[in-house]
Amino acid sequence: MKVNDLGSWRALEQDADRLRDERIETQFELDAARLDYLCLEAAGIYLDLSKHLVDRPVVAKLLNLARERKLGRAIDAIFAGEPVNLTEDRPALHTLLRASDSDTTDPAQARRASQIANVRRKMNDFAARINDGDLTGHDGATIRDVVNIGIGGSYLGPQLVCDALRYDRNPDINVHFVSNVDGGDLDGVLASLAPESTYFVVASKSFTTAETLLNARSASAWIQKRFNDPNATRAHFAAVTAAPDRAVEFGVDPDNVFPMWDWVGGRYSLWSAIGLPIAAGIGADGFGRLLAGARSMDEHFRTVAPERNLPVMLALIGIWNNNFLGCGTLAVAPYDDRLQRLPEYLQQLEMESNGKRITLDNEEAEYATAPVLWGGVGTNAQHAFFQQLHQGNRRTATDFILFLTHQRAPRAHHDMLIANCIGQAEGLMRGRLRARLTDIESPNAAVDLPAHRETPGNRPSTMIVAETLTPETLGALLALYEHKTFVQGVIWDIDSFDQWGVELGKNLANSILTELREASPASHDASTSALLERYRSVRNR
Ligand code: F6P
Repeated sequence: MKVNDLGSWRALEQDADRLRDERIETQFELDAARLDYLCLEAAGIYLDLSKHLVDRPVVAKLLNLARERKLGRAIDAIFAGEPVNLTEDRPALHTLLRASDSDTTDPAQARRASQIANVRRKMNDFAARINDGDLTGHDGATIRDVVNIGIGGSYLGPQLVCDALRYDRNPDINVHFVSNVDGGDLDGVLASLAPESTYFVVASKSFTTAETLLNARSASAWIQKRFNDPNATRAHFAAVTAAPDRAVEFGVDPDNVFPMWDWVGGRYSLWSAIGLPIAAGIGADGFGRLLAGARSMDEHFRTVAPERNLPVMLALIGIWNNNFLGCGTLAVAPYDDRLQRLPEYLQQLEMESNGKRITLDNEEAEYATAPVLWGGVGTNAQHAFFQQLHQGNRRTATDFILFLTHQRAPRAHHDMLIANCIGQAEGLMRGRLRARLTDIESPNAAVDLPAHRETPGNRPSTMIVAETLTPETLGALLALYEHKTFVQGVIWDIDSFDQWGVELGKNLANSILTELREASPASHDASTSALLERYRSVRNR
């Protein structure tokens, strides 16, 4: 049965009509125990869903929808290693990467757990060698700079975590990230580095991603320019990949290849050897704490009833906003400068996972799937796009993320940060209606200034709070969003773990690149042809 023909879906449509013209803040007056069922806590994360236009009947119907979509069975399936990635017939076992020594009885799972343990030992050894100053380059210089070359899931997670955990970093080891094929990215990183003390990690699950391979070749040429010795590449390169033969063919020493597997999706892979730059930056113990935080959220997600389950409830409220209240976008506003890259990371996690249009019944979905996810760090976002959130006429839901203490910020700064975050969430809900704007004089009769100055409020938001930004709370936070993404994919009946949509762009880019390199113009639309001609006119100067 189509998702939108389910009884719970139809009932939610009726509830949306019932509540659409109500106000969120009124719900607090109607139910003094509102926080009891809309605020949840687990794995060091406090989740406040009370500033959404929901009430108990809506939550009950959302839970019915989860039941009708057999969410419990789906959760068991993903943890058990069943092929939840149906179009590629693969499991999605990012949770196994951070499981404790699982005493799984399933032979396939036990085999995978053993592979993971072996790679983790190799990672820990690499991290120790770097942090102890024992990793040296071709001429014996101590390695001080690690450059990760990768794109998408092969860099977004590690970069986010390295940025976020800057206070846990070894100050003697600098971790850099090159992702874009724009030569300015690699140049910008290498300009300040010395080849002797620089080590490259080529992170690519497929080892076929054009941007990454070109950056890796250019980085190898940079090493060769200094040493003019093929052995130098072996001394300055490692690879993280599910295609080790390709890495060895590139010139990486087989001993420096860290395997990953096709049963881990790229955007879910920071917990694998893709996290090597994290382990290099914060050490094996720090990486272990990150895994422990995620594991704590995994256990919660796997075992706790839906109504008290943070990823499930966050997902269901998102479904309510997206599919029943018309919130076509989700803004993520982390109020911690160390999480500047979180929106970008979540864009890949959520939109590459659920930006799909075909259901697992092979039909075109008759309902919206993933909302557009965007955002920016608070309080800067208040001076960038919060105007749209407060007075725009597109409905957006906002996720606020806040840490109650900060390892270094003075009290005056943190007070102001906290006040802004909590105040903004209240302001989005309450607004400032024109009835209260009585003391405003319009500049002339043509302007109804109160109308222009009114903020209607009733804009929904979630507040995600942790005590402090640590490896553990960061791990739990990222796992929360991973599981939320999975739950929404189950509700929408889509495959959250493939990404066929990125193939077309890659193929077109490669054919145009061949045209440019071989000067063999092909037939295109007038716009594309004119653009290519414009480039050729300057390229060959
Ligand atoms: O964006 C498409 C994609 O395949 C992502 O899923 C992946 O994280 C990224 O490209 C990089 O792929 P690879 O790790 O194989 O280089």
